[in-house]
Amino acid sequence: MIRATRVRTPVAAFLVINSSKIRVDPTGPRAGPSGPGLRVHPPGRPGGSRVQEVGTRNRPILGRVRVRVHGQRAGSGAGRGSQWKPPPLPADPDPKLMITGGAKLSGHVPISGSKNSALSVLAATLCCSGSSKLTNVPNLSDTRTMASILGSLGAQIEFSGNDVIVNSDRVGSVEPDAALVGDIRGGFFVVGPLLGRFGEAVVALPGGCDIGARPVDIYIRGLRALGAVVEVRENKVVAHAANGKGLVGGKFRLDYPSVGATETLMMAACLAEGKTLLSNVAREPEIYDLACFLMKSGAQVEGVGSDKICIYGNNRLHGTEYGLMPDRIETGTFILAAAITRSSISLSPVFPNWLSSLIDKLLYAGCKITHNHDTLELSSSKEELRGFDIRTLPYPGFPTDLQPQTMALLSTCNGLSIVQESVFENRMTHVKELEKLGAKIQVCGSTALIYGLEKGNKLSGTRVVAADLRGGVSLVLAGLAAEGITEVNGLSHIDRGYENLETKLRLLGARVERLDFV
Ligand code: EPZ
Repeated sequence: MIRATRVRTPVAAFLVINSSKIRVDPTGPRAGPSGPGLRVHPPGRPGGSRVQEVGTRNRPILGRVRVRVHGQRAGSGAGRGSQWKPPPLPADPDPKLMITGGAKLSGHVPISGSKNSALSVLAATLCCSGSSKLTNVPNLSDTRTMASILGSLGAQIEFSGNDVIVNSDRVGSVEPDAALVGDIRGGFFVVGPLLGRFGEAVVALPGGCDIGARPVDIYIRGLRALGAVVEVRENKVVAHAANGKGLVGGKFRLDYPSVGATETLMMAACLAEGKTLLSNVAREPEIYDLACFLMKSGAQVEGVGSDKICIYGNNRLHGTEYGLMPDRIETGTFILAAAITRSSISLSPVFPNWLSSLIDKLLYAGCKITHNHDTLELSSSKEELRGFDIRTLPYPGFPTDLQPQTMALLSTCNGLSIVQESVFENRMTHVKELEKLGAKIQVCGSTALIYGLEKGNKLSGTRVVAADLRGGVSLVLAGLAAEGITEVNGLSHIDRGYENLETKLRLLGARVERLDFV
């Protein structure tokens, strides 16, 4: 029997599409040539290669593939003519997700550790002598980048599963790798611990999701209030303690309750001399998690969760063992995945208070939500869900990191819904992709009007592209509810913040398949 070019390795099978190798996820629902996954027509001649059309039941022509007839090792070049070389990878080797929509979700989904908490707590290990052991750290490209940033300073890092051990005793540089800092926003947070510990720091301006200007002016003014001289030179923040020794505690009011600025100034103040009072600070649960880690490492921090935090400086903290909080944005994303597919699922560990703004809206829409200990159950069996309005705000307001996913849900609800994005000035790029799936959305600045689907109408699958993390996952949610197949490109954005997303979705019965170009 001639089969499609399958080169089996212990963990995956490959297919060549458009002359590039694609790893087909064998655990995907019926990914075999006989299933509705990938199909090869017609059979080839042994020992050679030929161009074949490849498609799925719903999309007969996915592309033309160079089919290697079974029995040849990939890339060996053996058989007809040794001039064969694996063709260059396509311009966009980013992995993609193929979603067959319409499946109801059911069952239980385990929630991973918090990405945003991991980034700040990893930065805080620079404040500690000896080893810090962090558990429940999500295995994501962002957390690995953060570890590399610490490594570029000289810290020793050991990953094992979701545990990370960091020892920063040998840190000998105050300038982390600029390219790495340019990849993630959290990379910039190290400016606080470095300045607090060494009295100087040179840190590139950060990267991260392109959802707004995202300046660091509040960080800079805050560090100056702690006795630092801070300048921006050639895209780097260059800072040193004015007294030539170290930071000194002081008072600072943040113009805006910025999450990152609050976390960075809190870490710097832990190593400053004397008392620091920060006001109009952010109150997100991730701030609370960072403060708990710092206090377990010997810091004295008061008032976390209110809009004023008081920190009593200390010259060095000690290593400790700390378990990170669950990811409340991942939790919200799965809750919305169940709502958009009109399904019932349970999730844990969940702290419902952290998501009360979302839960209140979904109860209004017609979902049923109960929780017991750290397990939350959502049931949204009703086809007709009522639309609602949201305005994103700093915590405890509606989280901006759930705005795109909520917009995807609202595009399937009844009536007109209004979404106002007040935290970031450019967080609507997912709208045009949702519209490709059939959503009816009108954007005016940072406000979107979402016209729910007419009775019986559904979103319908097509090719869409993720431009950032949360916008990207909103397309996955829309794809789960859409008719037919949705191809979500730009998966590397989503990989930054969701651990094993497609595995968890499949656990719940979704029909998703990851195509990786290798
Ligand atoms: C954190 O970003 C999160 N990232 C973001 O999550 C989240 O969206 C955001 O907080 C708000 O909740 C991490 O924790 C790594 P901000 P951060 O400083 O700290 C302005 C995700 O998807 N601002 O609270 O960068 C800023 O431009 C990511 O996981 C200044 O003007 O957010 C923005 O409009 C995306 N000057 C607003 O404040 C400053 O110096 C809120 O930003 C700092 C911020």
